[in-house]
Amino acid sequence: MRWWQWVALCAAMAAGTAQAQERFSPFIPSDALSVERMVALAGLRDGETVIDLGSGDGRIVLAAARAHSGVRGEGVDLDDGLVRKSNEAAQTAGLAGRVHFRRGDVFDADISKADVIFIWLWPEIMRMLRPKILHEAKPGTRVITGIWGLGRWRPDRIDDVSMRLNLWVVPAQIGGDWRWTLPVAGRPRTYDAVFDQHFQDAEGFVRAGNRRGSFQDIRLEGREISFVLDMTLEGAGRMRHRFSGHVEGETITGTVRVVTLQGERDEEAGDAVVLPWQATRAAAGAYLGHSGQAVR
Ligand SMILES: C[S@@+](CC[C@H](N)C(=O)[O-])C[C@H]1O[C@@H](n2cnc3c(N)ncnc32)[C@H](O)[C@@H]1O
Repeated sequence: MRWWQWVALCAAMAAGTAQAQERFSPFIPSDALSVERMVALAGLRDGETVIDLGSGDGRIVLAAARAHSGVRGEGVDLDDGLVRKSNEAAQTAGLAGRVHFRRGDVFDADISKADVIFIWLWPEIMRMLRPKILHEAKPGTRVITGIWGLGRWRPDRIDDVSMRLNLWVVPAQIGGDWRWTLPVAGRPRTYDAVFDQHFQDAEGFVRAGNRRGSFQDIRLEGREISFVLDMTLEGAGRMRHRFSGHVEGETITGTVRVVTLQGERDEEAGDAVVLPWQATRAAAGAYLGHSGQAVR
């Protein structure tokens, strides 16, 4: 069976029972051009590790290891015969030192050390793997799937040259409350921020003193985050902040460029300063605190 025939079969079976679909995820090898595109899309670097969840005859992992002498690879498949065949192919190709295949269920695979995860399974199984990927893969891990997606998680890139390939970068978890302090216009100012995150998309709001503002142009790719905040600060006027940083667990470390916005004056012409920026996780609620302003 070729991949386009499988697509047709999946469409037909989608009407069947969920139980039947769960059992049915046959071995259909990716064609040579798709394998080449997957490896290219992965953008592999020396020292990285790839894993193929449902590795079939091992062709993707073997191709990645063949193309990059500094890359290690692993494959996981339920089918004993395919696992044996894949390990034999690795041996023959002289890649057994860097590549290994083992029998197992994709849901039990250790994906925590992978830099790149390849998946081409029954569409329902791929969607069911999404929570595992988001919880167990490290931020920055690239995920590449054949044909089908991961439900509501929008791909960061699509490659349509061969069969449709989708690429995601696992985002760092930024949802929740953060706090940082910056010396702006001669005094330290505390910013209490809250982010709502939906996969790689986020909204964010912040409070500094009695003022509140919303973040614009939030970009989150793996651990890298950037956003803009235009906000009036007490005694300082309207300020533009350009934040960019690296998320590492409970801390974001980076820089912020701060400049006064005055009427028509261009941001570039202002009194810009670049400051170190370190945000840390905070207890929930500071953003929600009462403003303390009397209302008459
Ligand atoms: C469509 S083939 C893809 C093979 C290979 N990744 C490729 O693209 O050439 C799907 C493979 O996943 C395996 N598979 C299906 N369900 C699995 C599961 N729950 N755990 C491990 N492997 C599974 C099948 O045995 C089959 O080899």
